[in-house]
Amino acid sequence: MKILVTGGAGYIGSHTCVELVQAGHDIVVVDNFVNSSMEAIRRVRKLCGTEFPFEEIDLTDGPATDRLLEKYPVDVVMHFAGLKAVGESVQIPIEYYRNNLGSTLSLLSAMKKHGVKNFVFSSSATVYGADAPVPYKEDSPVSRITSSPYGNTKLMIEYILKDTVRAVPGFNAALLRYFNPVGAHESGEIGEDPSGIPNNLMPYIAKVAVGKLDKIHIFGNDYDTPDGTCLRDYIHVVDLAKGHVAALKKLEENCGVFVCNLGTGKATSVLEMVKAFSAACGKDLPYDFAPRREGDLPETWADPTYARETLGWTAEKGIKEMCEDVWRWQSRNPNGYRD
Ligand code: NAD
Ligand code: UFG
Repeated sequence: MKILVTGGAGYIGSHTCVELVQAGHDIVVVDNFVNSSMEAIRRVRKLCGTEFPFEEIDLTDGPATDRLLEKYPVDVVMHFAGLKAVGESVQIPIEYYRNNLGSTLSLLSAMKKHGVKNFVFSSSATVYGADAPVPYKEDSPVSRITSSPYGNTKLMIEYILKDTVRAVPGFNAALLRYFNPVGAHESGEIGEDPSGIPNNLMPYIAKVAVGKLDKIHIFGNDYDTPDGTCLRDYIHVVDLAKGHVAALKKLEENCGVFVCNLGTGKATSVLEMVKAFSAACGKDLPYDFAPRREGDLPETWADPTYARETLGWTAEKGIKEMCEDVWRWQSRNPNGYRD
């Protein structure tokens, strides 16, 4: 299939480009580098062994997005582009709504004009909200409002896509709800490259391991969990990328709305993750216990049954591989793509 990958220079998009090309698909990639760089595209091209087309475009620019789909007649849009920092979204909600909703609406308008009818969306487990019991299942109710403007953009875009499927004959939308993507490509060539001090656990641990930060702060050790720290469903980014390739099958079946968790079904505590990374990098990483972080849920993990049954897809890589691959990426690229 011919696939437009938006946000393809970013963390998940770059890994998905590699898996798409390896599975025999043709890709066109777009990014505005608000949270990435051209170096990621160069490395993805190297890994893929092909000079796929790349366009630097801000997808909130409607006419530019329209010209993009005019130039490249694609079968599918895979929409990774978006702003994603939960805390930042509380500080600058307008920018988050403008960017995440605006880019999606530009794409949908251009798709309508050019007759493109398949959309894959990077949604998040955050749409399930605080009251849903774990493990989260696709038919668990989504919350009416999430704990952040970022999460609300995910919820709103899910509704926009459901309405589009209702209104446009033949339109298909795969809403893929990611759990906690971590890890890096096994080559060590591409990985997560956050700017500034990371908000998320895995990149923070990696910066401590490489000596860029002093110590890991574990937010809360008094939760009602086995070791008192929060439980999450960490999924290797390459498994996640393969989940996108698998989801294309559903679009070919004319699925209408297809909602699917992409998680492993396994819960790992923050402390377990710190210990697994220490083993991977061969040194005991320093940590302390800090107060709970506002908005954190004690435990979230996926029920992965539906993904297995409908896509024939299951995450294969465990915590050890996730940590080893991040360590390979981080130790070879201590300054990320800026090296
Ligand atoms: P990322 O920031 O690494 O990648 C997003 C990419 O989109 C970046 O390269 C950025 O430059 C680009 N971009 C942003 N706005 C754009 C615009 N208006 N026009 C063109 N390009 C634009 O993030 P990621 O971790 O790869 O996440 C990809 C998607 O998955 C996002 O939509 C994110 O919300 C979603 N998601 C991520 C996680 C996670 O933990 N990483 C979890 C759930 C969902
Ligand atoms: N944590 C620490 N120290 C840190 C960073 C995180 O102890 O320095 C803890 C958090 O308190 C949490 C766990 O590590 O218990 C995981 O935190 P992350 O920030 O890595 O991930 P979250 O589960 O908070 O967030 C992720 C995605 C969001 C998504 C959210 C809900 O990053 O995009 O899941 O699905 F919205």
